Amino acid sequence: MRNILITGGAGFIGSHVVRLFVNNYPDYNIINLDLLTYAGNLENLKDIDDKPNYTFVKADICDYDAVVDTFSRYKIDGIIHLAAESHVDRSIKDPFSFARTNVMGTLNLLQAAKSYWEGNFENKLFYHVSTDEVYGSLGNEGFFSETTAYDPHSPYSASKASSDHFVRAFYDTYGLPIVISNCSNNYGSYQFPEKLIPLFINNICNNKPLPVYGKGQNVRDWLYVEDHAKAIDVIFHKGKLGDTYNIGGFNEWKNIDLIKTLIKVVDRFLGREEGASEKLITYVKDRAGHDFRYAIDASKLKNELGWEPSLQFEEGIEKTVKWYLENKDWVKNVTSGEYQKYYKEMYE
Ligand code: NAD
Ligand code: DAU
Repeated sequence: MRNILITGGAGFIGSHVVRLFVNNYPDYNIINLDLLTYAGNLENLKDIDDKPNYTFVKADICDYDAVVDTFSRYKIDGIIHLAAESHVDRSIKDPFSFARTNVMGTLNLLQAAKSYWEGNFENKLFYHVSTDEVYGSLGNEGFFSETTAYDPHSPYSASKASSDHFVRAFYDTYGLPIVISNCSNNYGSYQFPEKLIPLFINNICNNKPLPVYGKGQNVRDWLYVEDHAKAIDVIFHKGKLGDTYNIGGFNEWKNIDLIKTLIKVVDRFLGREEGASEKLITYVKDRAGHDFRYAIDASKLKNELGWEPSLQFEEGIEKTVKWYLENKDWVKNVTSGEYQKYYKEMYE
């Protein structure tokens, strides 16, 4: 029996990680700690929330007492830390909330784990889930490896880089057993429609403009979210203490090419003429400090732990579009209220 704390489990990736652990490890108690910010939604977990090995705790990772209380109440011996502010555009408007949650929140969790486990780090693990954005931006050539120097450009990536440094500092200074993974762009079900793919699916359905930043030439490396969750499972169980693993899709797309592919798939599902929605493409002012290209070399994870993506992009994008079209109520719920204000400020 293990008691595993998953932070941010009501968010996009976190909900897939919680589902995978609850279903695959009936012997583990999974405790999902989440503040339920605009990005967190318990609807994401309604298929598993009555399982006996699942518990939800509503708390802020920045609230040290609440975190310490959760560690002792549930006798936590492992943590997978995903809770974060995660959207680059929001970090440009409000960098402080990113420093608070991503840096101070992570430090709180590290300190709570260290103090609760003090003296006995055996069979304990602090797993920090991070991003490839800490490595900065690539030109047309090359890949990020685990030894690429950190060079963050956005307040979001700076806050994630800072949290990575704190995690490593706790390993070097106190011997806290840690592991870190840095992943590329995820896509799939339950992603909040502020990120490129779900935002554009929703806009195509509603015949709204598709706001392409700059000339649409930036490149991202896309990974299906369930493959990320599987990689987290493998690293949690087999990763080497103190190590970092890069996770990527071996799947680079120029934004504009990805958008045109997405349009084709959504148009087909909607019974529109293929490509008809290309007329919605609208080039808008570029994102400030917009990183040109991310591309992950995930060969360490493949060679050492045997993980590689299971899904081809074509299949992943079909499944994703289908999910959004079949879950219009979910989309409607998360895009009412505060989202409308965000959308107006951001795009109108
Ligand atoms: P998300 O924004 O969908 O979810 C974040 C979750 O954290 C939400 O449930 C939210 O309620 C919770 N949260 C936020 N602040 C909190 C706080 N103070 N206390 C407790 N809970 C809080 O994010 P995501 O896209 O699922 O990303 C999850 C993690 O993976 C993040 O750490 C992110 O940096 C990392 N990551 C994301 C991607 C991606 O493509 N989305 C890629 C690589 C790494
Ligand atoms: O690389 C991993 C990162 O991927 C994660 O750490 C972040 O949490 C996640 O949000 C994502 O960051 P990006 O900034 O790459 O994702 P986003 O979906 O916001 O944007 C993808 C690309 O699409 C990027 O080049 C900006 C562009 N874009 C985005 C939006 C929202 C547009 O052209 N128009 C848009 O409206």
